[in-house]
Amino acid sequence: MTSTLFQPIKLRELSLPNRIVVSPMCQYSATDGTPGEWHLIHLGQLALSGVGLLCIEASAVEAIGRITPACLGLYSDDNETAFRGLITALRRQSDTPLAIQLAHAGRKASSHTPWDGGKLMAAEAGGWETIAPSALPFSPPEPPPRAMQAADLVRVRQAFVHAAQRAARLGIDAIELHAAHGYLLHEFLSPLSNQRSDAYGGSLENRMRFPLEVFTAVRKVWPESKPLGVRISASDWIEGGWDLAQSIELARRLKSAGCDWIDASSGGLAPEQKITPGPGYQVPFAEAIRKELGIPTIAVGLITEPKQAEDIIASGRADMVALARGMLYEPHWAWRAAAELGGQVRAPKQYWRAPPRGAEAIFRDAKVGQR
Ligand SMILES: Cc1cc2nc3c(=O)[nH]c(=O)nc-3n(C[C@H](O)[C@H](O)[C@H](O)COP(=O)(O)O)c2cc1C
Repeated sequence: MTSTLFQPIKLRELSLPNRIVVSPMCQYSATDGTPGEWHLIHLGQLALSGVGLLCIEASAVEAIGRITPACLGLYSDDNETAFRGLITALRRQSDTPLAIQLAHAGRKASSHTPWDGGKLMAAEAGGWETIAPSALPFSPPEPPPRAMQAADLVRVRQAFVHAAQRAARLGIDAIELHAAHGYLLHEFLSPLSNQRSDAYGGSLENRMRFPLEVFTAVRKVWPESKPLGVRISASDWIEGGWDLAQSIELARRLKSAGCDWIDASSGGLAPEQKITPGPGYQVPFAEAIRKELGIPTIAVGLITEPKQAEDIIASGRADMVALARGMLYEPHWAWRAAAELGGQVRAPKQYWRAPPRGAEAIFRDAKVGQR
């Protein structure tokens, strides 16, 4: 096989059969953070897709860290119990490696779901007071979040630790910490959202402190054999904001703290951002971080074509590619990629008769017999 996209990769003791990742995608379909039927159907479908890694959506580490009241969480025993049923069912039907993204939405919490407009949710509508490094709203007409006190820092750090311990008990294979898209950890990193005057604000060193503390605390309780990665926004796309040079410094520190990948996204911090999305527009971030530090990277953002994904991996610009919208549109994207690139995926035996003429070889170990 010559395709690099379909080469396995090992992250600590976890072997991914190929370099294709289902990017985390919020489903806004949970109740009190607890997954339900929708998650089984949605993740069940994606677990049959032949990808190398399926990352479960941003899951909040405390209730006020949910983006919306319908976001997933891993902060209560009820959450964990329902996750156990979900993971058990997925495991029975699929051997696709499973990751979970652990998150805190910070000042972007307490929002309406996208299909209800996505705006900040007022207390009367069921919203709550949000927290952030500084009392600066995402969008100035909004009321400001509450600036985190020392006790909040301790609580949130512990909440990440407890969620990681729950993930370990659930047998999840990998964790990605969400430090992108203007959520809490990103809010600490960016000088635009972090204007603290204590040890957690000001210099780059101080702004990185809380995200690095969270990382280190999680790494300590997450099994040594399992990988822990971080998604960052490599640029705020705003003058004077967080940028690639600072991202490289952060990635350097994360790497020495035992980080297994950097998932290089961008933006989401503030409405003033100026982004021109185009095919693979964030790939240069993954490339720069990988080339500078030699840490594995995930490229994400408008990667839609198998050949495009293959080129990213083959040219050494990233170690893995993540697809989000493309996977919703075409859940068996990896099958098509295997057919186009000469790769192979594992598919459920119930689907072994699926490949069109000429693509019969895409399913590893498939046998079809009839009398
Ligand atoms: C429905 C939807 C939900 C998303 N939820 C998350 C999320 O939970 N965590 C995250 O880091 N990014 C989230 N994203 C961003 C994607 O993971 C991805 O980075 C982005 O969509 C760009 O990739 P794409 O061009 O392949 O869609 C979401 C995107 C979509 C479309």
